[in-house]
Amino acid sequence: MHIRPLKNFDRVLETAPDKSITHRAVMFNAFARGEATVTNALLGGDCKSTIACMRALGAEITVDGSTVKVKGATVFKDATLDAGNSGTTTRLLTGLLAGKNVTATLDGDDSLRTRPMKRVTEPLSAMGAIVTTTDGKVPLTVRPAVLHGIDYVMPMASAQVKSAVILAGINADGVTRVTEPALSRNHTELMLKAMGADIAQDGLTVTVRRSEPKAVDVRVPGDISSAAFLLGAAVVTGGSVTVINVGLNPTRTGIVEVLRAMGAKITIDNYSDEVEPIGDLTVKSAPLRPFKITKEIVPSLIDELPLLAAIACYANGTSVISGAEELKVKESDRIATTVEALTALGADVEPTEDGMIIHGHGGLKGGGTTNARGDHRIAMTSAVAALGSELGCDIDGAETASISYPGFWEVIC
Ligand code: S3P
Repeated sequence: MHIRPLKNFDRVLETAPDKSITHRAVMFNAFARGEATVTNALLGGDCKSTIACMRALGAEITVDGSTVKVKGATVFKDATLDAGNSGTTTRLLTGLLAGKNVTATLDGDDSLRTRPMKRVTEPLSAMGAIVTTTDGKVPLTVRPAVLHGIDYVMPMASAQVKSAVILAGINADGVTRVTEPALSRNHTELMLKAMGADIAQDGLTVTVRRSEPKAVDVRVPGDISSAAFLLGAAVVTGGSVTVINVGLNPTRTGIVEVLRAMGAKITIDNYSDEVEPIGDLTVKSAPLRPFKITKEIVPSLIDELPLLAAIACYANGTSVISGAEELKVKESDRIATTVEALTALGADVEPTEDGMIIHGHGGLKGGGTTNARGDHRIAMTSAVAALGSELGCDIDGAETASISYPGFWEVIC
């Protein structure tokens, strides 16, 4: 993919539907009682993996455009499941299957096979689950077991781990409590509550008891993690963007806080909050200041950190990302792959153990070739970084953007 530099990326548009919420709407309705319709579903690679897995387990799922109809299977079939590139599918399903009296094997692509699964299998085993892994990774197999609640204090903030324990807790005897060190996205909690599950959130602790969720219709909001690339395109090109109907769950809006602190002008209109908050987000570019990102805010912008590193190149001064060691275990090692991509575009950026230091010089030269390294967010970060540069860039492996944002290249180029 060739990216030509652009002045003033000015648009009013919708963005791709939320990946995290689409996964959950399909997966949870696929074991709930009744039938539900998911509208504005994301049909990127990862969510297609979730649909395929839930069908293989026995749910009836039909897809018509971006509308997905789901009829839940209260009893699952034994199955061999392909989660593709999707960590969310793998980790949430492992938790769900642990108490479902089923034998299922989960596997995926080369990237997924490198990602740590012990963070999920350890608490599940403590609940009585029988899960075997391949050196702590997929392929992993879940076997029938009777689960009991635990009080689990998570070593890292991760919505995937938290959700796996919650989903096991739905099928466990007694009370399950899970506490995280900082608040990660809470879409699982909000959706299960809307489905009538016995679940409560109090600060950093979620408490759940055995429940039989009922199917609910879900209208998926736009994904703020995808919108972020459009906001980024506006701020690096001196433009202005309004993204309409985007999810504004406060566990996801760290990017808004950081862009505001950098000096960008951000307004929110048409805000509403039913199950998930939603609104129209407008950003107008302005001279950018550098930022300091520390561990407390990291969970609310974890997927936006490569992009924020790119934007930091357009500020004047040194930006620091710390407390973000989780970046190393994403679809790629995002500390290494972000530094590699931005360096190819002429950035002055250094990796650290838990983040990056970016020396911003008010712009980028561009002109190089970046490699997405099989990671959708690195492909899109390269595009935004190059859009505001002097020379643009070429991106190898750009097609991986369709994992979370089908249609991204048509919008950006
Ligand atoms: C996700 C949680 C995050 C995020 C991922 C989606 C989710 O991962 O990076 O893209 O939908 O729960 P972790 O929970 O591993 O931080």
